[in-house]
Amino acid sequence: MSVVFHSNSLSSLKEIAKEMITFSEQNKIFCFYGEMGVGKTTLIKELIKFLGVEEEGSSPTFSIVNEYVSNEGKSIYHFDFYRINSEEEAFDFGYEEYFYSGNYCFIEWPEKIDNLLPDSFVKINIEKQKEARVITLEKVI
Ligand SMILES: Nc1ncnc2c1ncn2[C@@H]1O[C@H](COP(=O)(O)OP(=O)(O)OP(=O)(O)O)[C@@H](O)[C@H]1O
Ligand SMILES: [Mg+2]
Repeated sequence: MSVVFHSNSLSSLKEIAKEMITFSEQNKIFCFYGEMGVGKTTLIKELIKFLGVEEEGSSPTFSIVNEYVSNEGKSIYHFDFYRINSEEEAFDFGYEEYFYSGNYCFIEWPEKIDNLLPDSFVKINIEKQKEARVITLEKVI
C-alpha cells in the first residue's frame, strides 16, 4: 500500500506531515530516500514539529544522530548517514539502541546502512518535478 503527496510550497508540509503520521500507524521508523537537496531534512523538521517538539534542535549537519524531546517527554531521533563510511561506524555508535527504542526514528540516507535497517519501516521517496516535490510513502514489511 502506498500513498502520494504533492508539495508545491513549504507551507504544504505541515498537513503532509500530519497525514504521514496517520499513514504510518504503529510504525516509527521512517527512511527518507531522494537526491541531495530534495527536501528530506525539511520534511523531517516538519514531522518533528508535528510530534510536539517546540525548540529548534541543534543542526544535524555534523553528527549522525540528533535527539529531540517532545512536549510529552518522548525522544525522537533524526539520523543523517550521508557522511558515514561503513556500516561498521553505525555499529560503533550503537544504532540498535535507537532503532529498537520504540521512539520515532527519521533516517536520511538509509541506503548507506541498507543491511542494518529493521524488517519493517515506512519508506519515503521524495522527487522533484519542476517546482513541486512528489512524496511517496510505502510500508515495507
Ligand atoms: N516541499 C518543499 N517545497 C519547497 N522548497 C522545499 C521543499 N522542501 C525543501 N525545500 C527547499 O529545498 C532546500 C533543500 O532542502 P533539504 O535541506 O531539506 O534537503 P535534503 O534532502 O535534506 O538534502 P541533503 O541530502 O543534502 O541532506 C531547502 O532550501 C528547502 O527550503
Ligand atoms: Mg538533509
